[in-house]
Amino acid sequence: MTQSPGQGNALDNLLTESRTFPPSDEFAAQANAQPALYEEAKADREAFWAKQAERLHWDTKWDQVLDWSDAPFAKWFVGGKLNVAYNCVDRHVESGHGDQVAIHWEGEPGDSRAITYAELQREVSKAANALTSLGIGAEDRVAIYMPMVPEAIFAMLACARVGAMHSVVFGGFSAEALRTRIEDSSCRLVITTDGQYRRGNPAPLKPAVDEAVAGAPSVEKVIVVKRTDTEVAWTDKDVWWHELVDSQSDQHTPQAFDSEHPLFILYTSGTTGKPKGILHTSGGYLTQASYTHNYVFDLKPDTDVYWCTADIGWVTGHSYIVYGPLSNRVTQVVYEGTPNTPNEGRHWDIVQKYGVSIYYTAPTLIRTFMKWGADIPAKYDLSSLRVLGSVGEPINPEAWIWYRENVGGGKAPIVDTWWQTETGAIMISPLPGVVSTKPGSAQRPLPGIGAKVVNDEGVEVEHGGGGYLVLDEPWPSMLRGIWGDEERYKDTYWSRFGEQGFYFAGDGAKYDADGDIWLLGRVDDVMNVSGHRISTTEVESALVSHPTVAEAAVVGASDETTGQGIVAFVILRGGAGADAGGADAIKALRDHVAKEIGPIAKPRQIMVVPELPKTRSGKIMRRLLRDVAENRTVGDVTTLADSSVMDLISAGLQSGKSED
Ligand code: PRX
Repeated sequence: MTQSPGQGNALDNLLTESRTFPPSDEFAAQANAQPALYEEAKADREAFWAKQAERLHWDTKWDQVLDWSDAPFAKWFVGGKLNVAYNCVDRHVESGHGDQVAIHWEGEPGDSRAITYAELQREVSKAANALTSLGIGAEDRVAIYMPMVPEAIFAMLACARVGAMHSVVFGGFSAEALRTRIEDSSCRLVITTDGQYRRGNPAPLKPAVDEAVAGAPSVEKVIVVKRTDTEVAWTDKDVWWHELVDSQSDQHTPQAFDSEHPLFILYTSGTTGKPKGILHTSGGYLTQASYTHNYVFDLKPDTDVYWCTADIGWVTGHSYIVYGPLSNRVTQVVYEGTPNTPNEGRHWDIVQKYGVSIYYTAPTLIRTFMKWGADIPAKYDLSSLRVLGSVGEPINPEAWIWYRENVGGGKAPIVDTWWQTETGAIMISPLPGVVSTKPGSAQRPLPGIGAKVVNDEGVEVEHGGGGYLVLDEPWPSMLRGIWGDEERYKDTYWSRFGEQGFYFAGDGAKYDADGDIWLLGRVDDVMNVSGHRISTTEVESALVSHPTVAEAAVVGASDETTGQGIVAFVILRGGAGADAGGADAIKALRDHVAKEIGPIAKPRQIMVVPELPKTRSGKIMRRLLRDVAENRTVGDVTTLADSSVMDLISAGLQSGKSED
C-alpha cells in the first residue's frame, strides 16, 4: 500500500526547476529574521527556545525548558504557568494598544466589523463568564462548529481563558462526522450558529448539530449564534449566544494554567477510518506559534495588515489566525466567505480595501486564481502586499511563479511553509529576507527545528537523494498525543523509525543539490484534497455503508486544481439491481459520502468494477488503481492473486458507463 516517494509530477518539476530569488537588500535590512538566528539556535537549542518563550507573559517562570524523559511524550517549559488568552488579548490592552484593530472582519454579504483589542477583551471576557455560568471549566471539552464569524474566535479564546479544551469541527463536515468527534472526546458543550453564508446564500447549520447532539449524550448545552437569521428548531439544550453571552459582565480575571495544560483537540485523518484527536497543550504551542508567525511572516505589528485565508476548522486557522497572530498583536483580516462571491475578484478587493500586506493561502486556491485569469488581480491595487505564504500541500513551481508575478508584483518573497496538525506550527520554511527562495521548495527547517530526509533504514540521504521526511528533535508545539489512545500515538508517529527516535511525518521528500528540502506528498493512505487530509479508509467505509456497495477501494489521483482528487472503485452487491451502476446511482453514492463525511470527501469519480486487485494476503493494491485513475499504463501485476483482474477492470471501464 505504500507509495514510493517522488512519483508523479512533483519529481519531474523538481528535475527541471532551478530558479532562485534572493531577497532584496531593502527587505533583508528590515527583516525580523537575520542570518544569525540559525547560528544561535544551533549553538544551544534549549536556550534558543527559552528565549522565544520570553515573547510571552508567564505568571510563573519555568524551571526546565524541556523534559523528554518520557519520550515520545514531551513537556516544555516545565513548571511554568500562563494564560493563553491573556497572552493573545489582555496584555496588548495593558500595554496601551486597546484601540488597535485586532480583527477587520468581512462578512460574505459585504457587512463588516472592526474589532479592537479592547473590544476583543470584553467579548472574550463575556464569553468566558458565560462558560463558567454553564459550569464549564478546566479540561472540559467544548465542540465549536461554526463558520468564520467573530464569535468563533471569541469562543476559542474563552475556552483557553477558562482552561477548557476546544475541539473545533470544520463547518463543512456532516452531522455524523460532528457526532463522532463530539463523542470521542465527550464534549459537554457545543457552540454553533443558526446558519452560514455560502456562495451568497444562507445555508442552515444548526440542523446538523441537532442530529449530532441527538446521538451524543455527553452534550448538556448548545450555544447558538444568530448569523443568518434562519428559522431553527429549538430544543431544551439550546441557548442563544446573544441572550446568554451578552448579559454577562465584560470583566473576567484570567487564571494561569500549567504550561502543559491541554489547550485543544483537533481531529485529523489518519490511515484508518477513525479520525485522530490531536492534542496540543499551552506554553510550548503558543511559544512556537508566536515565534514562527513573527519570523516567517516578518510581522510588524504597528504597520502590517495580515490575512490568512484558512478556516478555523483546520490547524492553520488555529495557529495562524488565532494563537500566533493575536499573541503577536496583529491587525488582521478575517473573511467569512468564498473567494468568488460576489465575483472572482473578492480576495483582491479585500486586499485593496484593507491594505493587506501579508497574505497566507493554499496552493489549491492559487491554482484556482490561475484558472480564473491574471486579468482579475490586475484590476486591483495589490501594491500593499509585501510577504506571501503558502501552506497545505506542495506548491508546483508554475503556481508559485504565477503567485509571485500576479499577486506579489514580482517582488514579495513567498514562504512555502511545511507543517502538520501534529506539529502545531510551521517547521520547514524559508525565512524571508535571509533565504533565497526557490519555486516549489519549502527549503529548510526553521532555527530550533530538526528535520531530515532519510531512507528506509533511517539513514540520512545524500544531497540529490529522496526518501522520507522525519523530525529528529522534539519541538515546543509538538502534539502531546492522540486523545484517548496513547498506543496509536506511538504506533503512528514513532514506530517507523523507533530505533532512531525520529518522528515520522508520513511525507516523502527529497534534498536538492544544495540540501534544500522538497516535499513530495504523502506516502501513506492519506489523500490531500485542496490541502485537506482525508483518509482512503474513511471514504471506503462511507461507501460500503451504502446498501448497494459490497466493496470499495479509494485512491487519490493527481488533480490540476485540488492537488489530489478522490477516485473510488466499487463492487456492487449481487442484489443491487440493474440500475445500480447508472448515473443516478453513482450520484447517489457520491451524495452518500458527502452526507457521511462532508462535501469535501465527495469522490471526483466513482468507477463500478467487477473485481479489485488484491495480493495473495488480501491487501488491495492501490498502486495499480492509481495507475488506472491517472490514465497510466498499469504497473507490475505479478504480486496479484489473480493477475487477470486488471484486464477485467480496464475492460469494464471501457464500457464507459461507470464514470460519474
Ligand atoms: O503532506 C503534508 C501537507 O499537508 C500535511 C498536513 O496536513 P494537515 O495536518 O491538514 O495540515 C495542513 C496545514 C499545516 C503534511 O503532512 N503539507 C502541508 N504543508 C505543506 C505540505 N506539503 C508540501 N508543502 C507544504 N508547504
